[in-house]
Amino acid sequence: MATTTLLQGEQTARRTTVFMKILMASTGALFVFYVLMHMYGNLKIFFGYQAFDEYAEHLREMLTPILPHSGFLWLFRALLVLSLFVHAYAAFTLWSRASGARPQRYAVKSAAKGALRSKMMRWGGVALLAFLIFHLVQFTIAKVNLNPSVTAAQLKGSTGLLVIASFQLWWVVLIYAIAMVALGMHLFHGVWSGAQTLGWTNTAASRRLAHTAAHVIAGVVVIGFLLPPLAILFGLVK
Ligand code: HEM
Repeated sequence: MATTTLLQGEQTARRTTVFMKILMASTGALFVFYVLMHMYGNLKIFFGYQAFDEYAEHLREMLTPILPHSGFLWLFRALLVLSLFVHAYAAFTLWSRASGARPQRYAVKSAAKGALRSKMMRWGGVALLAFLIFHLVQFTIAKVNLNPSVTAAQLKGSTGLLVIASFQLWWVVLIYAIAMVALGMHLFHGVWSGAQTLGWTNTAASRRLAHTAAHVIAGVVVIGFLLPPLAILFGLVK
């Protein structure tokens, strides 16, 4: 009787773990889609701040007049926030299960490597969350101009001009460079383990494909996001 209850408990725990991993993978996929779109949008700065602002305005006009102005953006924002909570909740659930299940040290090197990777994902995720809060305050919520040599009048209320003023400062570029490297690492491991969760790594060929996809997505996102700040810092975009 006690053994049956124990077995049932173990099965429920395993089912919950699989469910949490599926939640992480599906919300993670939405974030990958979002960062790719966002990265593409940021590249508009190479065509001037007006092109950047126009693109941002187009996003607010999406699906109008079916939805009111900015309606689609707000729906998408709500979906992102909900997904962020789900992603973080699943991560913390898996985190607490893993630390409860392994009080002793790892005997096998590969298991220790896996544990290090999980630790990197967790703390990298927390760091990314901190970056996201800074980022949203800077460009969306408060639109803070950190550049003392640019006045509010010169910014003319333009987000594109605010982006240019911000990345003229080396330390802002440094913060973003560190965050983008953290994002790249998170994406690489996230795409790879998401593919494992979804059962896309069962053969050698599919494992290779998932590995390549993880490298390509992480590489494109890091380089694509860092191009505008670096171009601005070196005076190629003014
Ligand atoms: C070099 C990297 C990045 C730059 C230059 C950048 C730039 C911007 C700018 C200018 C905005 C305001 C857009 C507007 O009001 O029209 C914005 C909004 C936003 N960014 Fe980024 N971003 C970067 C990286 C990221 C990353 C890595 C994430 C996610 C992890 C992110 C998530 C967001 C979100 C959620 C918003 C709010 C969008 C909204 O208005 O709903 N950004 N970003």
